[in-house]
Amino acid sequence: MSLTREALHEAVSKVVDPVVNKSLKELNALREVTVEGEAARITVDLLSPASGANEKILADVRAAAESVGVKKLDLQVGSSVRTRQVAGDDPCPEVKNVIPVMSGKGGVGKSTVAANLALALHRSGARVGLLDADIYGPSVPTMMGIMGRPISRDGKAIEPLERFGMKIMSIGFLLEDPRTAVVWRGPMIQGALQQFLKDVTWGKLDYLILDLPPGTGDVTLTLFQKLKVTGAVIVTTPQDVALMDVYKSVSMCQKMNVNILGVVENMSFFIDSAGVRHEIFGRGGGARIAEFAKAPLLGQVPIDSLVREWGDNGTPVVQAAPTSAPAKAFREIAERLADRVTTELFDQYGGVAPTEGPRRLPILR
Ligand SMILES: Nc1ncnc2c1ncn2[C@@H]1O[C@H](COP(=O)(O)OP(=O)(O)OP(=O)(O)O)[C@@H](O)[C@H]1O
Ligand SMILES: [Mg+2]
Repeated sequence: MSLTREALHEAVSKVVDPVVNKSLKELNALREVTVEGEAARITVDLLSPASGANEKILADVRAAAESVGVKKLDLQVGSSVRTRQVAGDDPCPEVKNVIPVMSGKGGVGKSTVAANLALALHRSGARVGLLDADIYGPSVPTMMGIMGRPISRDGKAIEPLERFGMKIMSIGFLLEDPRTAVVWRGPMIQGALQQFLKDVTWGKLDYLILDLPPGTGDVTLTLFQKLKVTGAVIVTTPQDVALMDVYKSVSMCQKMNVNILGVVENMSFFIDSAGVRHEIFGRGGGARIAEFAKAPLLGQVPIDSLVREWGDNGTPVVQAAPTSAPAKAFREIAERLADRVTTELFDQYGGVAPTEGPRRLPILR
């Protein structure tokens, strides 16, 4: 029997995306199906370039194509990341997902997690921005190894800086001297944050990751009031003392109706040179916070001097040492986060989250 486009389309349509448990047909994910003799060409729009499920989906597509007689398959991938709710006065309607990384506690690794997650998502082929919303103590410039003054062509819109191909904005770029303390009060902070969201030319982004200051103060409050974030990522360390502060940030999200996408436990354990695991800061903090937040534990990041050294040197570990254990942990967390964003949006919209249309993916791991 000769291969027909209809038979191929039918077979491939049945492949299921396990993240939302819907077929490619239901997801309207097959953009191009063409047949020529025994050769075929298919373009599949994935729900996120960063999803850990992509490999399986593409393998299933190949198997389905083979089952109807395709001998040579040109399989192209696109992306159709879904969009959060965007109100009429949203400051950045072209940003599909806004994801603050927060914690009630200082020094737990919020900036480290934000920078590495942003890069991991970016490296998967997603369009990502990183906004340093830590107005009092910006650390993104150091962590991303980038300094310089953003330019404005028209005196209003601000061009973000770029590093590793990713758009970045930080108050640190605007200070005359990076050692200067920022002594702003509420209204100025609101103004600055609004400007970073509204006047920075982020363009079309799949994910904008925000590095928030510690605590439950003005910046976080302003952010939650200005726009509908997709959901927050809470960072904690394993020990008990850290927890009380972290509970507060969870409770703030709950009070303000902000979804919690998941919890990242940082500095979870240390593997010594003999391969022995030490739980230096105790254990179980991440799981307890996750339970309290009714959100999944997205993963645990080990204590590793590579994380600090590369962070201090301006190249996050995910970029500098992608095969290292902490980089692998960050990548897996980014995969789970991407899937959580997808499922959260599908839940919110009753199964059909809006998309602004697919695009062809430049890279696929
Ligand atoms: N998993 C890790 N292993 C080793 N060092 C780490 C790890 N995570 C973070 N660090 C280091 O711990 C320090 C604090 O991290 P970071 O600045 O990301 O925390 P923060 O929560 O953003 O702090 P702040 O509350 O001041 O904003 C940094 O020097 C960072 O390099
Ligand atoms: Mg920080």
